[in-house]
Amino acid sequence: MSHLPAATDDTPAGPLHVAVIMDGNGRWAQARGLPRTAGHRKGAEAVRACVKGAVRHGVTHLTLFAFSSENWRRPADEISTLMGLLRLYIRNELAELEREGVCVRMVGERTRFDDDILRLIEDAERRTAGNTRLTLTVALNYGGRGEIARAARRLAAAAAAGHLDPESIDEARVGAELYAPDLPDPDLLIRTSGEQRISNFLLWQLAYTEMAFLDVAWPDFTEDHLAAALAEFHGRERRYGAVPR
Ligand code: FPP
Repeated sequence: MSHLPAATDDTPAGPLHVAVIMDGNGRWAQARGLPRTAGHRKGAEAVRACVKGAVRHGVTHLTLFAFSSENWRRPADEISTLMGLLRLYIRNELAELEREGVCVRMVGERTRFDDDILRLIEDAERRTAGNTRLTLTVALNYGGRGEIARAARRLAAAAAAGHLDPESIDEARVGAELYAPDLPDPDLLIRTSGEQRISNFLLWQLAYTEMAFLDVAWPDFTEDHLAAALAEFHGRERRYGAVPR
């Protein structure tokens, strides 16, 4: 990645969390007579553009759905391409991310990955843990229902061990058992490629998130698409269940 841009003067104060379902890699490739894996390769370049755009437009938290717990059902060559891209991305980008103040995190089950990938992820997390300019969270082997079930399991275990009164379990207590309890809820969810679904992404955290469904395929996603989605988002009124003012 070339140097990340300086944040613009109109950078809003406070957290701004954008979550992205990077959809349409396969269709992008198929439309060009290319293998689906070619779409993922181009998609990894779009990840770079998105991270750059996030910094430029004052996004403080960016969460990318890179591999769902259901994606293991894909053909073996596609899975290995995606894992290879992840390796490449971390190897090629980590030094720059580290230098530019990006904190890298992973949410999802840390099982089923090759050991070297887990080591790369943990190394990236360790090296960037003190960074605060942008928190880049990558969802890998992630499913929203699985995350909530895991939280329930952990609470049940604490209750069974006598450390937790079941009556004390409230939303905050459940939230505290999620993979990354300290992350603010997303303000804006972007899904590319025209589909209008959540697909088991951040089910708990998206309760009051604004949604933007873009027609562009993820491999064609640019900073300009992010800027346009943010501009639209900033024009919306968020009411969190209250009446309009
Ligand atoms: C969805 O498109 C995309 C994915 C399942 C993977 C996303 C991964 C990347 C963009 C590359 C690697 C990521 C990083 C963080 C380096 P799809 O294949 O479901 O597309 P389709 O709906 O058109 O088939």
